[in-house]
Amino acid sequence: MEKITVVNLQKMKQEHKKITMLTCYDYPMARIMNEVGIDILLVGDSLSNVILGYENTLPVSMEEMLIYTKAVKRGNSRALLVADMPFLSYQIKPAEAVRNAGRFIKEAGAEAVKIEGGREMTKTIKALLKVGIPVMGHIGLTPQSIHKFGGYRVQGRDEEAGRRLLEDARILEQAGVFSIVLESIPWRVAKRITESISIPTIGIGAGKYCTGQVLVIYDLLGISGKVTPRFVKKYANLEKIIKKAIARYKTEVEEDKFPSRKYSY
Ligand code: KIV
Repeated sequence: MEKITVVNLQKMKQEHKKITMLTCYDYPMARIMNEVGIDILLVGDSLSNVILGYENTLPVSMEEMLIYTKAVKRGNSRALLVADMPFLSYQIKPAEAVRNAGRFIKEAGAEAVKIEGGREMTKTIKALLKVGIPVMGHIGLTPQSIHKFGGYRVQGRDEEAGRRLLEDARILEQAGVFSIVLESIPWRVAKRITESISIPTIGIGAGKYCTGQVLVIYDLLGISGKVTPRFVKKYANLEKIIKKAIARYKTEVEEDKFPSRKYSY
């Protein structure tokens, strides 16, 4: 299968082909996603809450993100590998953003980075592009601003907020991002944005008219241990399957059934 790059993602948008993206945090999952042919693997900063058990995406560090990005890199060959820049690794000044994004590319083998934010990110995007690092934008519900939003709320609901999101998308496109994640916004707003810009949009809770879709892999697999947002479709209930397997193992060890001769030397 052809290696996915920012260039062929652009072509997919032109040819009205849907783009698939999933969050990915480790080697075995990257290997599986590659075999299935997922187009973009995002080492999301959702690593913070989904894998490391922090309360939200704010605490995860550059060092933690780098370890997991390296693991995904080892299992990936075809997908575009995007690393999410963690909170405060890019907001303070463009030079710092370049240094941190550069670590994802140079040390971890990522091929692009994602940053949250609209027009206020213009200078940072340009600085990253200047050193050759492709940037994915992210607008709508940007979880690193959860305290500003007062929770995980749908964004862009009223006319003015929807118009501002469209403006932000146009400004990000002008600044040079290769794609934009649209999170938790009304499908009509996402549709309008997707039709108004020439780069691909990737939706999460943004309806079907985006160029592509992304979900958090653990939500899709049904291993989240929490109430998931309405936009999450659980394609499996792995939590149930895993619990059953672990409980069986526990019982068999306790009842002296495992390991039997078959599993012994
Ligand atoms: O970190 C993440 O999981 C994300 C996706 C939801 C887009 O940013």
